[in-house]
Amino acid sequence: MNRIRINSTEGKSLLILGGKMDDILPLIPVKGLFIITDTNVMKIYGSSFPPGEVFVIEPGEKSKTLQVVEDLCRQMLDAGADRASFVLGIGGGVVCDVAGLVASVYMRGVRHAFVSTTLLSQVDASIGGKTGVNLGDYKNTIGTFRQPEFVLCDHNMLDTLPDEEFRSGMGELLKHGAIRDRNLFFDISAAADRLFARDPLLLGDFIRRAVKIKAEVVRRDPKEKGLRRILNFGHTFGHVIETHYKIPHGMAVAQGMIIAAGLSVWKGEMPHPELRLLEVTLEKTGMLTAYPLPAGVTGMVARDKKSQSGSVNFVLLRSVGKAIVRSISVTELQAFVNYYTGK
Ligand code: GLY
Repeated sequence: MNRIRINSTEGKSLLILGGKMDDILPLIPVKGLFIITDTNVMKIYGSSFPPGEVFVIEPGEKSKTLQVVEDLCRQMLDAGADRASFVLGIGGGVVCDVAGLVASVYMRGVRHAFVSTTLLSQVDASIGGKTGVNLGDYKNTIGTFRQPEFVLCDHNMLDTLPDEEFRSGMGELLKHGAIRDRNLFFDISAAADRLFARDPLLLGDFIRRAVKIKAEVVRRDPKEKGLRRILNFGHTFGHVIETHYKIPHGMAVAQGMIIAAGLSVWKGEMPHPELRLLEVTLEKTGMLTAYPLPAGVTGMVARDKKSQSGSVNFVLLRSVGKAIVRSISVTELQAFVNYYTGK
């Protein structure tokens, strides 16, 4: 088991990698525990939950709404939750986003933590304190920054993940290599077959390498004023593709990474052979999709949360393993989209 601590100006978080459910017992209250989970996780792991009141939401993106947050707050109120209560989200990215938001707004904020059950959430979503729900088609428009007290990642839980979910997590795993650790990126690709076979030791090793990157970035910039933006690599176009084609987040991010890498070459920031390397590697890992960019993509990107007065803070690459952030005007972005889509 590995313990990584995020000690930031905005709060502390303990990441327990490779632990088991019992490891959290000393960290949660005996009374006043409110568990938020989804129906899938409840079915498989409900019997091993610690004692507490359990609220179950539907799995998937459709639960990322303010209505679900309100319903959960009402259920907590009816069940007697007060400011001393503790929210434990047990699940993947959606559960963590929603439970984190509930914990940050219920009675102006109660303690919270996560047991992270998917690859996507173990490498990304449960870590770093972002909470959020969508506003219609706009992802994570309503949310807060609030560090969970701890995140437990039991890698054996990844054994029960459907293939599509697992593949989605691989997208975020690869992203961490692409932005900050070239060796990690190519090591993931070289070990892809064993990773897809869910070898827990190997998975644990790669998750630890990715989480160390994320923890270091979040510690330095917990509220995404600068450096943390690099964690959004592939997400600007990825979010548009995810919402339009309803494909899993990490698959959309993988395609978004290729488009962002194309933009990096177009802007003269990265040599073309690096783009080819990225493409070939993602293809080998089974992560390349080729959904056409939907019409009106530039407008959607401009309204995305990363846009600021006519320009977009875009994460580009200098090379595989080295991300940079550049402000790109919407006009320039439109010119790139025209070039990219052959218009
Ligand atoms: N998933 C990006 C971040 O946590 O900043």
